Amino acid sequence: MTAPTTRFLDDLRAFADAEGVRDAKLARPMGLLSDALGRVVPVADHPDQPSQPVVDTNLAAALDAAVGTPGDLIRAVVDLVGWAIPYPEYAGEPDMDAMRANYAYAPIIGAAEDAISAGAVSAPYLSDEVFVGLVLQGPGCDYPSHVHKSEEVFWVTAGTADWQKGDEWRVDEPGAVIHHPSGTRHATVTRDEPLLMLFAWVSDADSIPVIVRH
Ligand SMILES: [Fe+2]
Repeated sequence: MTAPTTRFLDDLRAFADAEGVRDAKLARPMGLLSDALGRVVPVADHPDQPSQPVVDTNLAAALDAAVGTPGDLIRAVVDLVGWAIPYPEYAGEPDMDAMRANYAYAPIIGAAEDAISAGAVSAPYLSDEVFVGLVLQGPGCDYPSHVHKSEEVFWVTAGTADWQKGDEWRVDEPGAVIHHPSGTRHATVTRDEPLLMLFAWVSDADSIPVIVRH
């Protein structure tokens, strides 16, 4: 297990700054991320972290396929992170049991106690201001509509999927950048490939997502 480095934080901050320049709609959220990154602390004795079956099955191929600077950032940090299953409070609901069997996330920068998994994983870098991590969603996985207060940016590095934002559906491919302002309803349905993404919550880092039931 390698230790977290400030080099990764520097590279992520440079990427956030570049994204804010590239796309005017990202200027404000990337400004929030870049500013907070200046206060992130590496964990000196970060313990070994758990994996998950969906990760053991799909991560290697998704890493090989991961495109762009976000793909490079993921490869630089992936050996440090642990994987958790969200929505433990929805266990027993059939659609969520199916989703939770085929989806995992990994905190990179987060709170000392991961709120979504009730502490099942811990981030190698600490921040109470932003939550940065990975998502791996296996093939044929329906992640239902959900909302959270956090303002969110996703960088898709591998996998083509169907995405809902508000009431609109579209298809996003590797290289896509997806911005959800606070409270935006969204959903993701994978096809025949695993979806690997870098995400950043740039506000309300302790939010717990809530599924939208019709
Ligand atoms: Fe989200």
